[in-house]
Amino acid sequence: MKTLLINAHPDYTNKKTYSAKLQELFNHQISERFPETEITTLNLYDSIIPKLDTEQLFNIWGKHNNQQSLEGDELKLFNIWKNLISQFKNHQRIVIVMPMHNFNIPSKLKDYMDNILIARETFKYTSDGSVGLMTDNYKGLLLQASGSVYTNNDRYTKLEFSNQYLTAMFEDIMGFDSFDIVRAQGTAIDSESNVMANAKSEMYDKLTTFYK
Ligand SMILES: Cc1cc2nc3c(=O)[nH]c(=O)nc-3n(C[C@H](O)[C@H](O)[C@H](O)COP(=O)(O)O)c2cc1C
Repeated sequence: MKTLLINAHPDYTNKKTYSAKLQELFNHQISERFPETEITTLNLYDSIIPKLDTEQLFNIWGKHNNQQSLEGDELKLFNIWKNLISQFKNHQRIVIVMPMHNFNIPSKLKDYMDNILIARETFKYTSDGSVGLMTDNYKGLLLQASGSVYTNNDRYTKLEFSNQYLTAMFEDIMGFDSFDIVRAQGTAIDSESNVMANAKSEMYDKLTTFYK
């Protein structure tokens, strides 16, 4: 199954981060258990991701919607956006690997989501509210590293905006069948061996349903 692995770590070449270790664990389990999987890797911090600002996307979409021609840098950014959205739709499995930063997603992942959450591409508006268009056996999985623990049903749990936001966008807005999470959590308070042993067994269980 075609899988798009989106790396959202600003220091994505550093193999010592927990995010890199989660990615390595994912690649290892895939090669052992689902060798037919085709993985495309997108390193967000090594890519041009158009931003939702006046200069970049607003002008471009305005012109595009008014059927005005695009030239130069505007055309270049429009084509980058078109490639990002078609790459996203062409993979029925989306895996995001990221560190939690300030209880949220890294900023370049937000830029990426701004390029993906586009009406008539991944969802549409109806008189009864929006409807997801990504309903043909699409699934998402978040591989997340965090300093604290978010599964104890305490004050930290409701501060976990990153997974809440992504789950809502993938399932409720775009219509994915599921959006799940594998955590390397408590990296600031527990040993690396404990953190990664928990992540490994969670990964094993979650991949069983992810590739069903
Ligand atoms: C700028 C910054 C902000 C962070 N914010 C949080 C946070 O809000 N919650 C948390 O649990 N950990 C936070 N951390 C800790 C990281 O999530 C933790 O170190 C994690 O292991 C990072 O993943 P990495 O090892 O892949 O870089 C933050 C770290 C940095 C550098």
